[in-house]
This record gives sequence, C-alpha cells and structure tokens, in this order.
Amino acid sequence: MSIEHEMIIPKQKPLPKKIADDPLGSPSMSMVVGSTGSGKSVTLMNIIMALDKRHEFDSGLFVTSNNRDALLESVEMPITTSPQELEDWIVSVKQAKQGTKHLLVLDDIQGSKDFNIMAGRSFFTNFLLSHRHYGSDPNKPAEYGVWVLMTAQTLKNSYTPTIRDQIKQWFLFFPRKPTDVKLYEDLAQDPIAMKRAMMLVKNAGKYNFLFLNKHDISEDRYFLNFKDEMKDLK
Ligand SMILES: Nc1ncnc2c1ncn2[C@@H]1O[C@H](COP(=O)(O)OP(=O)(O)O)[C@@H](O)[C@H]1O
Ligand SMILES: [Mg+2]
Repeated sequence: MSIEHEMIIPKQKPLPKKIADDPLGSPSMSMVVGSTGSGKSVTLMNIIMALDKRHEFDSGLFVTSNNRDALLESVEMPITTSPQELEDWIVSVKQAKQGTKHLLVLDDIQGSKDFNIMAGRSFFTNFLLSHRHYGSDPNKPAEYGVWVLMTAQTLKNSYTPTIRDQIKQWFLFFPRKPTDVKLYEDLAQDPIAMKRAMMLVKNAGKYNFLFLNKHDISEDRYFLNFKDEMKDLK
C-alpha cells in the first residue's frame, strides 16, 4: 500500500533547524494520540522516516499488538508482538556503548494486557522513565540516546502520569471523547491557547493533527501537522 507521507512531512520542506524547535534532533519521548483510524500509524511512519533521514540508529524495535496492520509492510525495522522480545531489547540497550542511538516504537499496545503500560513499576515502565541514560554521551547529551515513539487511542488510562510528564512531543488528533478534550487542555501550559489550537485542527479536517512541542520549556509551541506554526492563540 502507499502512504501519502508528503501530507504530513513535506519532502521539500526541512524541519526547523534550531534545537529548541527540532522535535527529532535529540533523544526524547513522543506520543501520538487519536481514535482508531484517525491516522496515528501513518504519522508514526512519517516520524520514523524523518528520524531515519537524520540519524543512524544502532538498534531499533517496533512493538505492536496488532501485527495484521497493513502499514507494517513499510516498516524496515524488527517488528515484534512479544513482551519478552521487548525486554530482551531493553536489556541490550541498557548495555549499549556511550554515543549510540536507539529507536523504540510502541504502536497500539495500550489495549494489550501483556505490556501492562499502567504498571507504575515494571521492567518496561522503569525503562521509559530512565531511557535518557542509555547510549547517551555525557559530553554530547543532546545527540545520542534513545528515541521513544508511542501511540494511544485515548489519553485516559494511557501510560502513567510520570511517563506522560516526560513526553515533549505530542501529536494530537481531535478526540472523540469530551473527557479527552479536557485532558488535552491539561497538557498545555495555557489551556485557552490549547482549546483554540484544537478547534483549528478540528476545522482543518480529517487526518490533521495538532503538534504540541514542549521541547522549549519556556513556552509551548503549536503546529498544524508539522508544517504551520499556530500563533496568536491567546
Ligand atoms: N495523512 C493521511 N492522508 C491520507 N490518508 C490517510 C492519512 N492518514 C491516514 N490515512 C488513511 O487512514 C487509514 C488509517 O490510518 P492509520 O494511521 O492506520 O490509523 P490509526 O493508526 O490511528 O488507526 C490509513 O490506512 C489511510 O488510508
Ligand atoms: Mg494504528
């Protein structure tokens, strides 16, 4: 099947260069939220492609609980549905050399009991909370380490609040549930700006998402997809 990547990351247009604006430059956790069919996995593919262009990863793993997803045909990294394989990968990354890069993708595992994403303390959630340490080079902390990309169908019951607090990049499709509208607002420093940004995304139509960049701690930044910064939201 073909994916219309250009709709999300235009090939001709490079992402912003400044590190504070660059969602993909440094190791981080990113989360894509949207109901089934909203375009989460397509967005993941686009992020993976963009990451692939700018980094050479020493290892990667794509974890899913739905291995019948046709999109997986275009995934060029090892794919698994097995919590044991995820654990083995984590063990290997914990032993990785300084100055190495690793990519972990967690797609559609929210509903799977096997991965137990709401466990406060498990091998897996501990890794997410400590992922910054692995592979990183103390002299170049912004350059090496672990990139984690996740998806969730709803923010409610989706990973623990401590993990969510560490997520810098949010790709938010307009939620079906009013409870999630409120949860989206809680993510932002300015709930009113968030509300306005969400309405703009809703009006932009299907497959559009709000990209909330919390990378720059002084202020949130809002984009329609990757392309257009939304300003004057206050
Ligand atoms: N940006 C897009 N442009 C065109 N079609 C899209 C786009 N994003 C998603 N789709 C369509 O919607 C379908 C569902 O998208 P998908 O990413 O699998 O949703 P989710 O992972 O949220 O369930 C895709 O197979 C594709 O046909
Ligand atoms: Mg999907």
